[in-house]
Amino acid sequence: MTDARPSYVHGTHPEEQRRLEDMNALINAHSLAALAPVPGERLIDFGSGLGQFARAVARVTGAPALGIERSDAQRARAVALAEAAGETALAEFRAGEATAPPLSASESGSFDIAHARFLLEHVPDPLAVVRAMAAAIKPGGRVVIEDDDHGMFRPWPEPPGVMIVWHAYVRTYDRLGNDPYVGRRLVQLLAQAGLSPTRSTLLPFGASSGDPAFVPFVRNLADVFRGARAPILGSGGVTEDEFELALRSLAEYEHRRDAALWYTASWAEARKP
Ligand SMILES: C[S@@+](CC[C@H](N)C(=O)[O-])C[C@H]1O[C@@H](n2cnc3c(N)ncnc32)[C@H](O)[C@@H]1O
Repeated sequence: MTDARPSYVHGTHPEEQRRLEDMNALINAHSLAALAPVPGERLIDFGSGLGQFARAVARVTGAPALGIERSDAQRARAVALAEAAGETALAEFRAGEATAPPLSASESGSFDIAHARFLLEHVPDPLAVVRAMAAAIKPGGRVVIEDDDHGMFRPWPEPPGVMIVWHAYVRTYDRLGNDPYVGRRLVQLLAQAGLSPTRSTLLPFGASSGDPAFVPFVRNLADVFRGARAPILGSGGVTEDEFELALRSLAEYEHRRDAALWYTASWAEARKP
């Protein structure tokens, strides 16, 4: 596996890994509550990133989780974090493509839950991933997908210049051949993969001024922009000055006492007949 992934807008450099790690700290409790795994359930996590969510699930189920992740850098960091937490027994992180996870004959079709978060937005053929997720679980098992619909971002008051950069950022997905609005398609994708959809909901992430999570959410957005600087500027829709203005604007936004910043992820779940 290599990390030369022009199709992955965020990259896997250390600052981006720190952002992803911090984002997991902000949202994993919400994702875990919505997933509601029960003891004994075995999870396979597609595009497992730094592995924090796979470990969080395994802590509840008591069954080791399997993460499929194509990036060497992400897997190395996932292992380092698991080691630091003394939780290497909770999850295995295996090199692989989400469309063709490297599962043995006895593993294929054996998992209780196949989960993917913020993965489908980064692949050109999300249905191929959902089909692979369906193949990994046993009959009666669940496929659970959380993903982005980039139309769901709502900061108010609007930080000056930020939405221009946001729209240029969203367009970077299109230009890579990926769908920035895949979140609204989740139930359809599950049905197209031959699964029986059972649930669709939204997970609100965000905070108001005065909430301890407000500054971390604002910083997460600034870090998303920084990490995607080259593709955003490469879009031609934003100048370097506009990009820097947006970052300054977000730095000031942290201090506002009257702001709210909302982002809503799409959630969908289906059973395998
Ligand atoms: C935005 S991160 C999300 C990580 C994790 N699911 C989370 O929520 O923290 C997306 C991850 O998917 C991985 N990824 C992207 N395309 C992939 C593919 N085709 N197969 C396997 N992993 C992939 C990336 O390397 C990255 O680690």
